[in-house]
Amino acid sequence: MTAPEKPQIIEKRCAVVSKEKDIPSARALLRQIIGRTGIIDEVIEAQLLTIIDELAKNILRHGGEGKICVKVVRSSDRTGFGISAEDRGRGIADLDLALAPGYSEDRGMGMGLNLLKALSDDMTVANLLSGGAFIEVWKWI
Ligand SMILES: Nc1ncnc2c1ncn2[C@@H]1O[C@H](COP(=O)(O)OP(=O)(O)O)[C@@H](O)[C@H]1O
Ligand SMILES: [Mg+2]
Repeated sequence: MTAPEKPQIIEKRCAVVSKEKDIPSARALLRQIIGRTGIIDEVIEAQLLTIIDELAKNILRHGGEGKICVKVVRSSDRTGFGISAEDRGRGIADLDLALAPGYSEDRGMGMGLNLLKALSDDMTVANLLSGGAFIEVWKWI
């Protein structure tokens, strides 16, 4: 029996998010990467762009500044998009509460993290030892 093929990282690029104007740049980064993978699926692209928007808005609103990274991994039968956000803020005070639908610490809609969960196959919400928030989602196609 042969071992299952290990997924290989074929792209990893990051964009700094510290001001409103960085959101379109992070979106552009994803578009470029998708263009190079040769995957043309408008629904997936729209979902990934929504994920980037919500992560970037949370960095600016709750974390101050940080970065968003986009990774693409490929194995013989599927491709995974990993999108992560980390920031230099004070982290997520209550991880369970943050994921409760409608909860927002500052009168937001409180649906951003729920949307990420609904749009992805796998999601990690954590705080970095250095203090900021770390959120990563994976979507497989
Ligand atoms: N990067 C972050 N740093 C600190 N807290 C965060 C971060 N992202 C999310 N949170 C916390 O999780 C809550 C829920 O986030 P979200 O679902 O996006 O709703 P909203 O942004 O509308 O408040 C936020 O109100 C905040 O308390
Ligand atoms: Mg939000």
